[in-house]
Amino acid sequence: MKRYLVAPSLLAADFTNLHKEITMLNESEADWLHFDVMDGRFVPNISFGLPVCKAIKSISKKPIDVHLMIVEPEKYLKAFREAGADSISVHIEACPHLHRVIAEIKELGCLAGVAINPHTAIDLLVPILPDIDFVNIMTVNPGFGGQKFIQSSLIKIRKLRALANELNPELHIEVDGGVDLSNIEAIKEAGANIFVAGSAVFKAENPKTVIQKLKTGS
Ligand code: DX5
Ligand code: ZN
Repeated sequence: MKRYLVAPSLLAADFTNLHKEITMLNESEADWLHFDVMDGRFVPNISFGLPVCKAIKSISKKPIDVHLMIVEPEKYLKAFREAGADSISVHIEACPHLHRVIAEIKELGCLAGVAINPHTAIDLLVPILPDIDFVNIMTVNPGFGGQKFIQSSLIKIRKLRALANELNPELHIEVDGGVDLSNIEAIKEAGANIFVAGSAVFKAENPKTVIQKLKTGS
């Protein structure tokens, strides 16, 4: 069975205290730091970008997982790599030439991921599955933190795990949106192994304990 990885999403952090939040993550069992980039075009919201990524990289002991919720992501791959990205996911809905974009991410030395919106059929990933390191299954509509997990996503996760067993057994399945302690067991059972969690971690009284529980379930 695949190793479970927890990737807290910085979007829910206290931006007036970013240094403190990153220190907390450094001391926690978090595996990756999930960094949500929004452009106000692909999604109806704007978050943060390159200078913030670079600043965080300078103090983070965890790899930076950049989730590009932007149109024309190919324009910014190199810049995000230089700003510290260790893995990059781009949306299938934003890439008419997905195969080329994935090749570029890998050439830059990053893990390559494809993110997929809740309404997009999982079968569309079949041609690209052998070429990627992970899929980011969006379990809310991208653009905002703190939304409710879409239950039907569990079917998509299960279906993707079955396809991956056939086409790319090494594939990681990341889930992103509304992940918390109430649904983590079902998510694991469906076959995902990377858990992005924003609100569940940063709004908790004890974030480090939540990170540990998401991972081990104890
Ligand atoms: C949503 C982002 C998520 C978000 C998750 O567009 O991609 O990474 O920050 O936040 P929660 O865990 O609060 O749903
Ligand atoms: Zn995300």
